[in-house]
Amino acid sequence: MSLTLSMEKVLNIAHRGARSLAPENTLSAARKGLAVGADMWELDVQLTADHELVVIHDSTLKRTSNVVDLFPHRRPWQVHEFTLADMRKLDFGSWFIEQDPFGQIAAEVVTEEELKNYVGEPAPTLEEALSFTKEQNWHVNIEIKDLSKRPGNSQIVDKVIALVEKLNMVNMVLVSSFNHQYLAQIAASYPHVLTGVLDTKPHVRPASLLRRLGARTYHPRKTFIRLADIEKLRRQGFGVNVRTINDEKTMERLVRAGVSGIFTDFPQVLASVLTSYKKSEA
Ligand code: G3P
Ligand code: CA
Repeated sequence: MSLTLSMEKVLNIAHRGARSLAPENTLSAARKGLAVGADMWELDVQLTADHELVVIHDSTLKRTSNVVDLFPHRRPWQVHEFTLADMRKLDFGSWFIEQDPFGQIAAEVVTEEELKNYVGEPAPTLEEALSFTKEQNWHVNIEIKDLSKRPGNSQIVDKVIALVEKLNMVNMVLVSSFNHQYLAQIAASYPHVLTGVLDTKPHVRPASLLRRLGARTYHPRKTFIRLADIEKLRRQGFGVNVRTINDEKTMERLVRAGVSGIFTDFPQVLASVLTSYKKSEA
């Protein structure tokens, strides 16, 4: 099964895994995303002090682990200052149980059994995350975090692509980044790898940006793009995967506008929106 752009199917992309139901960027969140009908999951990758590719969103370990309790003297707990062995000592699941960031534990959507399994959850390496994706014959959007001000900047792209190629997963991944040099590097050295453009601001001519970066998909915030421009980009052969949409009405509007995909923290909601849309179109 290869990851190609479809004009018909709207991709349900579980942002950092189904992070409303399980701790973000873990294999539990990926499993939940798959179980509730996501077509792919999205993860964030960066480098440890010993240059291992690890799946985590923030530049520090503070928010999503018990690092402050275990390593109180290593403030500010930056990912690039911890080895993978250090990170293996941490629990990336319990914070989710304590904080219930999306209220899905209080709403009793997450079961007691699931919660027990989240205690002690590790941050996966990229290799573990990709291997899981491959075993499930699934797809993943790998977001390479911008390391331009951190160690490992010059090697992260080559390391990520080398791993994807080693696992023979080029047809299962879409690589994105806010760092456009990384995307240009991929287009120049690995043109067979699909890329998606993230940005912190809207673009007047996104198609020109995509062409310049050799990218196939645009990943704008909803406020960065007009509905008419979605249709235009799609006609020009580009994908438009909008981020990060959690309310049903906006999902419906974007589906009707012709997006190729939607990033969501609630893939369970998007799955039902897409089912209803298909029925209404039949
Ligand atoms: O929703 C897509 C995502 O990759 C962009 O931002 O910061 O949530 O990783 P973030
Ligand atoms: Ca991300």
